[in-house]
Amino acid sequence: MKRVDPMIESTGSGGSLFSDIVEARFSRREMLKFGSAGALLAIGGVAAEAFAASPLGFASVATSTADRLSVPPGYRADVLYAWGDPTGLTGTGPAFRFDAGNTATEQAQQAGMHHDAIEFFPLTSGQGGSTHGLLAINHEYTDESLLHPDGTKTLSAEKTLKSQNAHGVSVIEVQLRGGGWSVVRPSKYARRITARTPMRISGPAAGHALLRTAADPAGLEVLGTMNNCAGGRTPWGTYLTCEENFNGYFAGGSNADHKRYGVGSRAYNRWNETDERFDASKHPNEPNRFGWVVEIDPFDPASKPVKRTALGRMKHEGAMLTLAPDGRAVVYMGDDEPFERIYKFVSRDRFDPKNPAANRDLLDHGTLYAARFDADGSGTWLPLVHGQGPLVAANGFADAAEVLIRTRQAADAVGATRMDRPEWIAVHPTTGEVYCTLTNNTSRGRAGSPGTDPANPRTDNVYGHIIRWRDGTGPRADASATSFRWDIFVLAGDPANADSAKRGNVKGDAFGSPDGLWFDRRGVLWIQTDAAPSQMKSADYANIGNNQMLAADVLTGEIRRFLVGPVGCEITGMTGTPDGRTLFIDVQHPGEGGQSQWPDHRADGRPRSATVAIRREDGGIVGS
Ligand code: FEO
Ligand code: CA
Ligand code: CA
Repeated sequence: MKRVDPMIESTGSGGSLFSDIVEARFSRREMLKFGSAGALLAIGGVAAEAFAASPLGFASVATSTADRLSVPPGYRADVLYAWGDPTGLTGTGPAFRFDAGNTATEQAQQAGMHHDAIEFFPLTSGQGGSTHGLLAINHEYTDESLLHPDGTKTLSAEKTLKSQNAHGVSVIEVQLRGGGWSVVRPSKYARRITARTPMRISGPAAGHALLRTAADPAGLEVLGTMNNCAGGRTPWGTYLTCEENFNGYFAGGSNADHKRYGVGSRAYNRWNETDERFDASKHPNEPNRFGWVVEIDPFDPASKPVKRTALGRMKHEGAMLTLAPDGRAVVYMGDDEPFERIYKFVSRDRFDPKNPAANRDLLDHGTLYAARFDADGSGTWLPLVHGQGPLVAANGFADAAEVLIRTRQAADAVGATRMDRPEWIAVHPTTGEVYCTLTNNTSRGRAGSPGTDPANPRTDNVYGHIIRWRDGTGPRADASATSFRWDIFVLAGDPANADSAKRGNVKGDAFGSPDGLWFDRRGVLWIQTDAAPSQMKSADYANIGNNQMLAADVLTGEIRRFLVGPVGCEITGMTGTPDGRTLFIDVQHPGEGGQSQWPDHRADGRPRSATVAIRREDGGIVGS
């Protein structure tokens, strides 16, 4: 049988020669760990172990433009925690007011707006750990027109405070009872972290002059986190929440750092007009205190969140943590903007499973890298280390802290590959291969913008793609390695598109704008989409319908639609219980660019982002 590198063989096909990829990617022992593995198939005269059947054991859900959430027959999807629902922080209230009349104080005790990343933390070990736990949930941003009874007609300090309190993170206690999940109220774990919660700045940039402000002359404590998009978790039981489009909260941007990060003249929600902290012309360093990864201990509501500067400053999409073979923590991260980069952080010290306290500051010491994807299918992680190569004072990097505060400029200087909007990253639970969504980039190839390259091969990339790589040179991934092999897992698209250059190579159901990405324990890759309303109204998306969630068999490349969301939403954030029998996802911004009354469907209501619990009606493994 022909020996091929599966990474290369599969380029452009959405999957590899079945027997080759099975042989190359999975040892026999690894395959047997999978519940559905075990059949021996003879392919090309060689016995290769393979799945007896597709791991995708559900019927494809049809595309839809309806204002409802669709899942396959035999599944239930229950709304668990929508914007304005009480957290359990103060008993069973305050209840959501459908006229948006809740006060700022009440909002701080309720779910924030625009749910995004989500992680489940079991409260007990064993079977109970799949029926009772904590959920940490990001609230990415606010829609001011929905948040207040009079929308955006007036400004006031109270409205700014309510908006700030609708940001950040929820920690809620949830339990499976009688076949359905509910929020435990009251709960000693319930917590709301907002755009005003004090947090510690840690790592190499802590205390640096560029992080000091009038309110915090030491540069060690910042109020709040915002635009928390994707996230992650650590093996020591903490939640990672990522600050994405922080720039949009500031007005009065003018200096070079403001420009490189998009801090402009006007803030989208105009907090600056009632809260001077968000006026960058008066407080030019305040924007430098955002764009970080924040670590939160969900089990201790009194703990102070920590901004980990060693992980760099960018429009952070996510923080996918895995362990290298030697036990060092590796965090893969995307910077979501057209032509920005993929990064990873490799810790200096090793994770110690026997001594949780020793891991608490693991993310403060290590090396940050940016990825360069080369045309021959190889790639290099370029270190962003002060004093190395161009990262010296003469180029605007006076010290190690400035390399981190100016991560984007550092990646520019070392020549990392400009990608098509890196969103979520997921690591295969067995092989360690890494997958990253590149959601779309319609500017690729336009006059004045970069053209195509092998890792971003389409001009006017309206549908996006998913790239994958394997760190190291051996058959098994080594997440700490500085070289990798890469290929494109799938070019998203619609095979019926009139423009053959746009069609992509999806084996299965058409989709576009992949964003959320998550592996379940079986190694099934779940893909969530976030096409913007303007895109969805374009001819390219005419056959694709509302944003959705699909599952991919990474061995064959088959992709099958599992869920379709209501009008105007994106589907984002995903986590599961350890037993695989519940998935939690978030439905964000229903009604954006259209009319939605999801999930309440009340004449006096308004659309609400929400966490949804998905189960098989027979209690089986979701997706199998
Ligand atoms: Fe908040 Fe890049 O999505
Ligand atoms: Ca996203
Ligand atoms: Ca997105």
